[in-house]
Amino acid sequence: MLEDVATLPVDALVEVGQLLRNDARADIIDLGIGVYRDEHGRTSIPDVVKAAELHLFRTQESKAYVAPDGDPVFVEAVRGLLLGPGRPDATMVCVQAPGGTGALRLAMDLVAHAAPGAVVHLGLPSWPNHAPMLAAAGLRIATYRHYDADAGAFDFSSMCAALAKAAPGDLVLLHGCCHNPSGTDPDAAQWQQLASLIANRGLVPLVDIAYQGLGDGLESDAAGVRRLLDAVPEVFVAMSCSKSFSLYRERVGMLLVKTPDERAAARVRSNLQSLARLNYSNPPDHGAAIVRTILADPRQTLMWRIGLAAMRMRIIGIRETLAQNEKVDLSFIGRQKGLFAMLPIGAEAIETLRRDHAIYMARSGRINLAGLNDANIDRFVAALAATLER
Ligand SMILES: Cc1ncc(COP(=O)(O)O)c(C=O)c1O
Repeated sequence: MLEDVATLPVDALVEVGQLLRNDARADIIDLGIGVYRDEHGRTSIPDVVKAAELHLFRTQESKAYVAPDGDPVFVEAVRGLLLGPGRPDATMVCVQAPGGTGALRLAMDLVAHAAPGAVVHLGLPSWPNHAPMLAAAGLRIATYRHYDADAGAFDFSSMCAALAKAAPGDLVLLHGCCHNPSGTDPDAAQWQQLASLIANRGLVPLVDIAYQGLGDGLESDAAGVRRLLDAVPEVFVAMSCSKSFSLYRERVGMLLVKTPDERAAARVRSNLQSLARLNYSNPPDHGAAIVRTILADPRQTLMWRIGLAAMRMRIIGIRETLAQNEKVDLSFIGRQKGLFAMLPIGAEAIETLRRDHAIYMARSGRINLAGLNDANIDRFVAALAATLER
């Protein structure tokens, strides 16, 4: 059976990582993989996470299964982060999921079950996992343009034109904030218009929000999701805690599904429980328990918020430094948000940067801004300028 199984292509970023590990140069600048790095290039464990782990170590009494739809206390706490404080809405179903990816896959599997072969409108460029995941779930993909690479700006009119042609019942995959890879999001007025357009055309948003708190702040970054939930009767939101809590490997996220009424909500919950059971039985607990522990304690929550704000300010600072440099025009980066930006350069320039300057990035030209710091940012700008002048 396994003799003839085909070899699949290595994920492009994994490939970049492999090249990097085999590179012995001392001055490597790694702008590839999408994790936050501090000024010293580390993706460290925040003190609040360590404190929560210590607390769990001392007090946790059982490692028995949680439940297919996860821990209700965790779910309630992160629902509050996403929607703001308020009474739970009985038409919304929230379940714990193994990371943002797990939440997305639950949503896609549920859609495939409820509406086999449904069309999902996907703005390109997008996170490279979106299209393969949609295809793996058996959904059909219709792509559209949402990014003006020449201007480094969000292309709202192209997006609206595409959605105006979408058929009722189609889904639209949206990034809740800090678009990966473009760094460009709708502004508040555009979110409002999008929510109306989506509601009027009978479309269903599938929102991927993996960077809440790393753009403008926890509240503003969730504003688009909240507009959609206010305006549209059926909405899926896949939320990741990987970046905001620095819990990448612990696999912690949540899926929220807004349904038309309470009876539909009960049916949806039963489907999500079944999908979870068939895939992984129960979600992993450790990351969710850490998040729950932090959010249950106002002091720890404050410390976490301060840490998240520090990450955000560091990213904003890097964006400003790049935008203000005088060697190469990167002004567009100062108008964008989140961890990522797309350099408007081709494969040859990307290869020159790697070969001649030890600068690594995704093949698409996406850079993780958090890979830059005071010690390497000038060298990065100089290398980019020299490469583009060749
Ligand atoms: C846009 C987007 N969605 C989802 C994810 C997946 O997050 P998680 O690691 O929680 O599965 C990522 C991770 O890089 C991402 O960038």
